Amino acid sequence: MTAALDPTTIAALLDAARDAATRAYAPYSHFPVGAAALLPDGRIVTGCNVENASYPLSICAERVAAAKVAELGERTIVAIAVTAPKMSPVTPCGGCRQVLNEFHPTDAPMPVILDAPDGPEFVTLDELLPRNFGRPVG
Ligand code: THU
Repeated sequence: MTAALDPTTIAALLDAARDAATRAYAPYSHFPVGAAALLPDGRIVTGCNVENASYPLSICAERVAAAKVAELGERTIVAIAVTAPKMSPVTPCGGCRQVLNEFHPTDAPMPVILDAPDGPEFVTLDELLPRNFGRPVG
C-alpha cells in the first residue's frame, strides 16, 4: 500500500521534520536541520543532523532518516520533507541526494517537500539528481 501525499500527510511530514530539527545536535554550525521520510505504509521516520568535533564525521538530517528507514527493514521512501529553520527552503546536499536515491520508489517519483515561509515547495529527487547512478533493479 502506498500512502497518498494528501495535504494532511504533507502537514504531518512538515510537523515531524520541524520537531526533529529541535533535536538537532549542531554545536559547530548552529544550523539545525530536520527531515521526515514517509514509508509506504504511512509511517513517518525522522532525522536531524548530528555533528561531530571531527567535522567531516557529521551526518545530515536526511541521512539519519534514511539510515533509520533501512534499519527498520524498509527500502522505499515515498516522500521526504526537509526543514532548516535558519534557511528555508533548504534542499538536501549532494551526498544526501545520492543516499536518498537508494530508497527511490521503483514506480513513482520521490517528492521532496521543502519547508518555506510562504508554504511548502515541491521538487522531485530526480529533479535534484538528474541522470543519477542508481541501485540495481530487481
Ligand atoms: N545539513 C543537513 O543536515 N541537511 C542538509 O540538507 C544540508 C546540511 C547539515 C549538515 C551540517 O550539520 C549543517 O547542516 C550545516 O551544513
